[in-house]
Amino acid sequence: MIETVSVPLEGREYEVRIGEGLLERAGAEIAPLLKRSRVAIVSDETVAAAHLATLQAALKSEGIESVAMTLPAGEGTKSWPYFSQTVEWLLEAKVERRDVVIALGGGVIGDLVGFAAAVLRRGVRFVQIPTSLLAQVDSSVGGKTGINTAQGKNLVGSFHQPARVLADIGVLGTLTPRDFRAGMGEVVKYGMLGDAGFFDWLEQNAAAVIGGDVAARQYAVKRSVEMKAEIVLRDETEQGDRALLNLGHTFCHAFEKATGYGDRLLHGEGVAIGCALAFELSSRLGLCPQEDPSRVRALLKDAGMRCDLKDIPGDLPDAEHLLDLMGQDKKVIDGQLRFILARRIGEAFVTSDVPRETVRALLAEQLAGR
Ligand SMILES: NC(=O)c1ccc[n+]([C@@H]2O[C@H](COP(=O)([O-])OP(=O)(O)OC[C@H]3O[C@@H](n4cnc5c(N)ncnc54)[C@H](O)[C@@H]3O)[C@@H](O)[C@H]2O)c1
Repeated sequence: MIETVSVPLEGREYEVRIGEGLLERAGAEIAPLLKRSRVAIVSDETVAAAHLATLQAALKSEGIESVAMTLPAGEGTKSWPYFSQTVEWLLEAKVERRDVVIALGGGVIGDLVGFAAAVLRRGVRFVQIPTSLLAQVDSSVGGKTGINTAQGKNLVGSFHQPARVLADIGVLGTLTPRDFRAGMGEVVKYGMLGDAGFFDWLEQNAAAVIGGDVAARQYAVKRSVEMKAEIVLRDETEQGDRALLNLGHTFCHAFEKATGYGDRLLHGEGVAIGCALAFELSSRLGLCPQEDPSRVRALLKDAGMRCDLKDIPGDLPDAEHLLDLMGQDKKVIDGQLRFILARRIGEAFVTSDVPRETVRALLAEQLAGR
């Protein structure tokens, strides 16, 4: 069954289609958007090997011609050199102002190609076909696009909403178990930040989602997308509520920086650990019930996800240094560390009112336990 979540942003409304087999029917899904029967696809080598032929066959069956470029897989691709390569390839492929570009891949391809589409000929439309769990539940919806630079992650980019998102639950089957679990970090985040009922559901069903149950996977993706869409509608450009989506991210960004944005810690793993710490911090500050941090950690642990600093292999800087890394986060405003904390599971809020010493002590304790 294919389900639809609408993102009714005025003048830029689009649909997120969710279900098994969407890649096979991508031609029919995309055809109504086209002014001429031709698209350009950008993917990464891993995703292309598994899914590009299916996509191109689906387009061809609807008479849509396609050209494709593949880039190396991995975070390093979200950078200036691959960005200019992509833009120049799209120009050489004669993509015109009214054409559609397709991003087939995880968050790296979605962010890079979305940004390329945003600047190409001052903006062409693009379709997201997210293939990782993280991309289906988070990065493909909401229009944040961009690349990393030497100065930090996601520092250059633009808001450019997709024209449509096709989240095929079936393609998640080729993800490595580790990448799938990393995406679950973002799924669990939605329950923690805004929907206690969804958190309860995950306590019962996370094992089924991870085990490959298609109906459970579809529900998890759909509920996550609904929540992301609701928040984006309230606050498209992150002046307020959208920051709630950063639950766990102040911690996560520091750990990613400390581990070099690589294989030691995937983004979704850092988010899971960061969420566990955000709840621990909330509890220590007397903001949320004392049992909530244990529930959060139990859910993550039972699902085989990372939840502690000791789950990060290799050396880490000391607590003071980690705090400094948090201070370099781009979400810092006027030098104040901002945290997303919780009043309870399902109710997060943004605050800058967190004593540095409490955070330092929490990190030092966690580091000592490694
Ligand atoms: N724009 C946003 O709102 C937003 C939100 C969250 C994260 N992000 C960004 O998303 C990126 C992380 O996304 P990601 O975790 O998808 O990373 P990714 O794109 O690197 O994908 C992870 C790995 O999975 C592989 N892969 C993807 N789909 C696959 C499939 N179906 N089968 C087999 N392998 C597959 C990729 O080749 C890659 O090796 C980060 O750059 C992060 O900054 C953006």
